[in-house]
Amino acid sequence: MDSTRNINIARSALITGGAGFIGSHLAEALLERGQHVVVIDDESTGLVDNLAAIYDHWDFEYVRGSVNDLPLMRRLLREADDVYHLAAAVGVRRIADDPIDSIERNIVPVQSMLAELARLHDAGQQVQLFIASSSEVYGKNPAWPWAEDADLVIGPTNRARWSYGAAKAMDEFLAIAYHRQRNLPVVVGRFFNVIGPRQRADYGMVLPRFIDAALAGQPLVVHNDGEQIRCFVHVADLCQMVIALMNTPRAIGQVFNIGSDEPIRILALAEKVIAAVDPSLKVVFESYAKAYSSDFEDVHVRIPCLDKLRHTIHFHTQYGIDDVIREVVEWKRNTECDAM
Ligand SMILES: NC(=O)c1ccc[n+]([C@@H]2O[C@H](COP(=O)([O-])OP(=O)(O)OC[C@H]3O[C@@H](n4cnc5c(N)ncnc54)[C@H](O)[C@@H]3O)[C@@H](O)[C@H]2O)c1
Repeated sequence: MDSTRNINIARSALITGGAGFIGSHLAEALLERGQHVVVIDDESTGLVDNLAAIYDHWDFEYVRGSVNDLPLMRRLLREADDVYHLAAAVGVRRIADDPIDSIERNIVPVQSMLAELARLHDAGQQVQLFIASSSEVYGKNPAWPWAEDADLVIGPTNRARWSYGAAKAMDEFLAIAYHRQRNLPVVVGRFFNVIGPRQRADYGMVLPRFIDAALAGQPLVVHNDGEQIRCFVHVADLCQMVIALMNTPRAIGQVFNIGSDEPIRILALAEKVIAAVDPSLKVVFESYAKAYSSDFEDVHVRIPCLDKLRHTIHFHTQYGIDDVIREVVEWKRNTECDAM
């Protein structure tokens, strides 16, 4: 039996944070499926340029504004069938530099959105919500690979880096509570290290940081000893997983890890970038204390268990790590040429 939702009627999708890295790719993927797409973004880290390929599409609408603007959000939510909530303050560097703004951005809008969707639900309108959460909710749980029901092991509150995972966990608690108590159709996805074109380097994201350095002919700065282990997924593969979950009724009310489960050491990632750009480049090591602060704690190994995702949707990833590196290098080179 086909358990996917009948989506032949064009559904209207609202993407919050849709001018950002992941949101802009999601907007393209949804338009390709024939959905009407509305993006709201305050351009705090997103760029309208990210939407250049679809900006003039007849079925696309861009709204510059904040998800904290309640009257605006009420109107947009009323007109939506599906909402993908991606707006957030993202990146270790950004959280470390401005924890108040990050915590407020990552909690307050979810509260108001869920309350408004519950009101609409009571009035007979079903709007389905996807919440973009993060692997950071697992904190420093040492028992990887992490399955969705694993403990969340967050560090102390005087270390700002844990506030991001704690805020995302609170979003999840609230979303699940609204599903259980108010019957709201909600799907939660914990993204694991997403990479691809349009990801910015300036908030601490590792691959664009390495590629920017390599293209500038500079050494690649690897934090600590480079033995940290991560799994990277191409943004296009991730978007297909998100859309598939939103179109699978048994995903509703559930939390899913979303990403790749192929691990790579950060030092090996740096070496791949060097091989792709200029084999004469070097790696330099920098302590966490120098990169962030003396009390900065990192997560050594971050590997998801994807069993639940595999049992719920059919997917195959199209891009390996070398494909993504090549694509991002090419994109960066083209963007630099365009800017000249
Ligand atoms: N990139 C990753 O590897 C990763 C990993 C885990 C989770 N996530 C989650 O995925 C989502 C998207 O992340 P991204 O990497 O595309 O980051 P991004 O910074 O590129 O996108 C976030 C977007 O939200 C917008 N935004 C922020 N606050 C807003 C507000 N109050 N109102 C309207 N727009 C606002 C920003 O301008 C930006 O365009 C986030 O929720 C993030 O927490 C990303």
